[in-house]
Amino acid sequence: MSEPIRVVVTGAAGQIAYSLLYMIAKGDVFGADQTLILHLLDIVPMAGVLEGVVMELADCALPLLRQVVPTTDPAVAFKDVSAAFLVGAMPRKEGMERKDLLASNVTIFKAQGEALDKYAKKDVKVLVVGNPANTNALVCSHYAPSIPRENFTAMTRLDQNRARAHIAVKVNVPVDDVKNVIIWGNHSATQFPDAKHATAKIGLVEKSVYDAINNQSYLEEDFVSIIQKRGAAVIAARKMSSAMSAAKAASDHMKDWWNGTSPGNFVSMAVVSDGSYGVPKDIVFSFPVEIKNKEWTIVQGLDVDEFARSKLEVTSQELLEEKEEAMAVCSQD
Ligand code: NAD
Ligand code: LMR
Repeated sequence: MSEPIRVVVTGAAGQIAYSLLYMIAKGDVFGADQTLILHLLDIVPMAGVLEGVVMELADCALPLLRQVVPTTDPAVAFKDVSAAFLVGAMPRKEGMERKDLLASNVTIFKAQGEALDKYAKKDVKVLVVGNPANTNALVCSHYAPSIPRENFTAMTRLDQNRARAHIAVKVNVPVDDVKNVIIWGNHSATQFPDAKHATAKIGLVEKSVYDAINNQSYLEEDFVSIIQKRGAAVIAARKMSSAMSAAKAASDHMKDWWNGTSPGNFVSMAVVSDGSYGVPKDIVFSFPVEIKNKEWTIVQGLDVDEFARSKLEVTSQELLEEKEEAMAVCSQD
């Protein structure tokens, strides 16, 4: 067993955390040999609920979990952490877009960026889940200048998992046999779920998903729209936003970042754009990435046709607008 690492989960008394904490604490993310000290941050009115979560974690009797630190103080929460799951933020309700949360949520990520900058390890890996996730991650990084920008990411893995699961059903294979579906852009209704580079193992043959489905208009219209609107569909049904699937996606995202991706497989993560694929720089944009030695690189050289290019432009434009609004909100804070 290795020395314990400190991992913080914010919004630890909330819905997503309720599933996520168990996944982390039993070794799904950092591995079966990695002991953990879990820091749980929430706000003062939730301190009582947080105590209940601490009791339940103890009652799980998990061997990797060496200590739990519940707190409402960011200075304690972010102290010496190696990984941060920034979940704590208001979720949207039916009829809202995620960017409607910007004014209320973005200042949380300003404050947490400042706290990460002061207290966290300089190689901390930060995953922003709270919406609007891409722009919150950008803000967080902006206010943590001593931590490399590459260490700030936002979650589009839930969209990737949704897209992959959708295609698996469509071509009638287990989800594991579908790979390289890409989510480009914002975790919003402008995201571009792209199956152009995806393959599915059908029988013993690895086939292009476009060939297997053989219905271009389906893949460029219905499929795109279903994945773009899946979060809203879950809210309409549950009257609450996705939580179990969001926790699983957060676990998948950090697990791949920590352990790397296997050759020939890429995953989608929203990262600070370096201008790849003509995307504007300095917005947090979801790209296909490969990961080695805990460092991601954007997969280069994929063919982006005119249709895809137009989708990338729409989602980039939305992110530029969100960035402008977020910086204005933060400067008044
Ligand atoms: P929730 O309301 O159940 O829990 C949020 C928790 O965050 C609450 O306990 C709240 O007290 C806490 N919180 C609020 N401000 C905080 C602060 N400053 N510091 C620490 N904790 C704070 O919500 P949830 O369902 O867990 O969702 C959390 C966020 O994740 C929402 O913004 C939601 O929209 C987002 N989300 C993102 C994705 C994604 O794919 N990126 C998926 C699902 C949900
Ligand atoms: C999701 O995609 O399920 C989450 O971002 C929650 C939401 O607001 O849709």
